This record gives sequence, structure tokens and C-alpha cells, in this order.
Amino acid sequence: MKNNYFGIIGSGSAIPKKKFKNDDFQALGLDTNDEWIASRTGIRQRYICEGETTASLATEAASNAIKNAGIDKEDIDLIVVATTTPDYPLFPSTACLVQKGLDIEKVTAFDISAACTGFICALDVASNMMKSGLYKNALVIGADTLSKYCDWNDRSTVVLFGDGAGAVVLGPVEEGYGLLASNIGAKGQDHDKLIVPIGGSKEALNKDNLDNPLRYIQMDGKAIYKFAVNIIVQLMDEALERAGLTKEDVTFLIPHQANKRMIDYAQEKLGLSDEQVYVNIDRYGNTSSASIPIAITEAMSKNLLKKGDIVITVGFGAGLTFGANVIKWI
Ligand code: ACO
Repeated sequence: MKNNYFGIIGSGSAIPKKKFKNDDFQALGLDTNDEWIASRTGIRQRYICEGETTASLATEAASNAIKNAGIDKEDIDLIVVATTTPDYPLFPSTACLVQKGLDIEKVTAFDISAACTGFICALDVASNMMKSGLYKNALVIGADTLSKYCDWNDRSTVVLFGDGAGAVVLGPVEEGYGLLASNIGAKGQDHDKLIVPIGGSKEALNKDNLDNPLRYIQMDGKAIYKFAVNIIVQLMDEALERAGLTKEDVTFLIPHQANKRMIDYAQEKLGLSDEQVYVNIDRYGNTSSASIPIAITEAMSKNLLKKGDIVITVGFGAGLTFGANVIKWI
């Protein structure tokens, strides 16, 4: 009989070596300071790639997740990577590079592009594929290196992002446990609120636009903030309803780490205490698709998640995209 229950049986993360503190921006001549960044966002520092790449971080996180799950790498037959910052602009996908890095023989491997909502989508896609009965264990990875797509002269964006990767192993679990439901959506009408306008097929990079700041992240921060706050309650409520639950059932919140004020808002709406919400934005900044799996890895390593806990993830990002997963912890 086919199993319909798949849950997180292991996790791992990988962070670049170079730490970059808020005050370090001033040393680069940027008109900003620790007080502004920390009070508006909750960020104190982030890690920035020097030698590392999205695929190298994803591979390291995946390897740690496999170890943590206590399975053999050959037991993985599906790799889904959420990223918008692959090593190569078109192909190959990061998932294929992870397969090579881990040296696994036979897998299905592909990437998903949904910006900061990417991991939430990838978890749902992998879980639904596994319900076909064709896969035993999946690696679901969120990996991004947005520091490479920031204009380092633009204080309104560069201070927000950090690099990193997080991975989970999704495997068969006891009936009634694991990923119970997801709610994922998009509002492409607002695609221009967070965009890298140049460098894709609409306007490829050429010798005339190499210095154009539009090849870097352009963001209407206020619009994204309003969008997220307006959508977050309905987003979580609908995800919980699909799982046959209500917000009173939630025991732990693992939010995308974009802004501490937005995390506080979600926490308040769910009526959770500080101990029931995982926050690490102060240390990593916004690592896009990596932020939720990094937080899951840290919460698991600190034994914060107990069997039977109802864990909700929630995130939003470029697209615009938004999503939530409801997980009954194993
Ligand atoms: N240091 C100092 N001052 C700054 C900085 C900085 N780093 N950045 C902006 N300012 C200034 C602005 O120039 C502005 O000055 P002015 O009033 O003289 O014009 C002032 O600070 C206020 O700027 P706002 O943009 O209004 O600041 P706000 O309170 O809205 O905070 C922020 C900005 C932190 C970006 C907030 O809007 C936010 O978090 N938005 C959501 C962003 C987000 O979550 N993106 C996620 C997408 S991730 C993905 O999918 C890739």
C-alpha cells in the first residue's frame, strides 16, 4: 500500500565563512549604521560568500542532513532545490550539481524558483511526488547567495540579505504525521515590487549595461512589507484549515526571516510566546529560500521540536509569492 505520510527525518545547514556585521557597511562608505538596520529589521550580521557558491553550500547542507537523518546517501532518490541564485545562469540546475557533489547514482533532480517562498513550495512538491509511491526519500534544499545580486552602493537592499543553505530529508513517517497541508499562492501582478530587471532573456547582459544598477535587486520595501502583513493571517488560517486544524493547535512557528517586525506580527496573530517562534535573523539576515530550512536545522539541533508538535512555516517573497506548510512533528 502507498504511504501518504512524509515528514522531516533529518536536517542540515551550511553557512559561508565570512561574517559581515552591520558596522562593516560603514567601512565600505555606505551611509547606514547598526542602530538603523537592527531597529528596522532585527538584523545584526550576515554571512557572505567568498569562495562558496549556491551549489557548494547546498551540497554541504544536504550532506549534513543525510548524516542527521541517519540514512545512506544512496537512499535518496529525489532532489529538489529551491533557489533563485544558481551557480550558472541557465543550466545545469543546482539540484544536478548537488547530485554530483554528493556522488549519488540514480535520482530525479530539479530546481524550483519561487524566491523566499521557494523552500515552502519545494517541500510541498516533493511530498506530493512521494505520494506517487515512486520515491523513498527526498532531499529538499533551500539555497541562495543574494549578496551577489545586491548593489553594494544601495543601502536600502544590501543590508537585508545574507547567504546560506538549509536542507531536510523528507521520508516516510507514521500515519497522521509529517507534512499535513500547504497553502501556496502568487500575485504576479506585483512582480515589479521585487525584481532584478536586467540580466534575463528580456534584457540580457551586454557590454552596454554591465554598469547599470538595474542588474541588481530593486525592491519596494514598503510595498512588500504591506503585502506580507495583509496576507499572512489568511495564508496561515487556510493552510491550517486544509490540515483540519486552527491557530489554537499551532505549537511552533518557523517563519521566513525577512524582518523581525513581520515575524512579531505573525507571532502575535497566532498568540504564541517567544519560546514558540524560531528567530535567527539577527545572525543571518534574509537568506531567502534558505532561511526556513536553516531555522528548522537549528530548532532540531536544540531539541525545540517535540513529537506531535504542530509546526507552521510561513513565507513570502519575489513574484510576489507566498506560502505556508503545516507539519505534525515526528
Ligand atoms: N540605513 C539607513 N537609512 C536607510 C537605510 C539604511 N540601510 N535604508 C533606507 N534608509 C532610509 C531611507 O532612505 C528613508 O530615508 P528618508 O525618510 O529620508 O527617505 C528612511 O530610511 C526610511 O526608509 P523606508 O524604506 O521607509 O524604511 P522602512 O521602515 O520601510 O524599512 C525595510 C525598510 C526594512 C526594507 C522594510 O520596508 C522591509 O523590511 N520591507 C520588506 C522587505 C522584504 O521582506 N523583502 C523580502 C523579500 S525577500 C525575497 O523574496 C528575495
